[in-house]
Amino acid sequence: MNRNLRKTVIAGNWKMNMTPSQTTAFMKELSPMVTDAVCDVVLCVPAIDIPAAVAATAGTNIHVGAENVHFEEKGAFTGEISAQMLTEAGVTHVVIGHSERRQYFGETDHTVNLRTKAAVEAGLHAITCVGETLEQREQGITAEIVSMQTKIALLGLDADEMKRVIIAYEPVWAIGTGKTATAEQAQEVCKIIRDVIASLYGDNVAQATSILYGGSMNAKNAAELLEKEDVDGGLIGGASLKTADFTTIVHAAG
Ligand code: PGA
Repeated sequence: MNRNLRKTVIAGNWKMNMTPSQTTAFMKELSPMVTDAVCDVVLCVPAIDIPAAVAATAGTNIHVGAENVHFEEKGAFTGEISAQMLTEAGVTHVVIGHSERRQYFGETDHTVNLRTKAAVEAGLHAITCVGETLEQREQGITAEIVSMQTKIALLGLDADEMKRVIIAYEPVWAIGTGKTATAEQAQEVCKIIRDVIASLYGDNVAQATSILYGGSMNAKNAAELLEKEDVDGGLIGGASLKTADFTTIVHAAG
């Protein structure tokens, strides 16, 4: 990470875990543990938990995020949630294009782009995810896949909107598997992503964009990953469900 140029962000992704009452208890426990954080602290929670999370973190340095957002403002999209609904509820960040959504819910590079655009236009910080599968890594096409996903995700976004875009590099083979990318692998791909952003928007925008690593980041390996020049934080699944582990990662970020 390079704190002089860009923000360090430690974001939890709870996935389909925690009820509203568990959310309240978690946030009350976590808040005093991370008051000294130097990085941005974000917890992305299930939609139903958002009101509890926002209420329990009022006046703290914890930001509440969502795990998805629809790209239309309103209408006949049963089960979906708009960007305006999120902002009005007090949400500041949203995970977009997580590989679980790509794999299980038909998310494509195109819809990731639409959702990213809708989020930033509404003033949200998009945490847009990219990453290769194990098969793609073994075929030697990681750089191509991640570059393509990044380029398509950013179609139509201008340099000003890039201020609200965070990219999360999440190799699919490392998510929830306990198999973390090495710090070198994470650095290599985060640098590729930064180069793609530089080719699209110039070096200043690329240097100002936070690029996170995600995939089995935990209390033990976070410091080594976060030491890398182009790794500006983490998107953390399993380890974000425990206040002690998550706090350790927040402190590893400085
Ligand atoms: P994990 O999940 O930390 O449990 O591997 C990361 C993610 O999916 O964002």
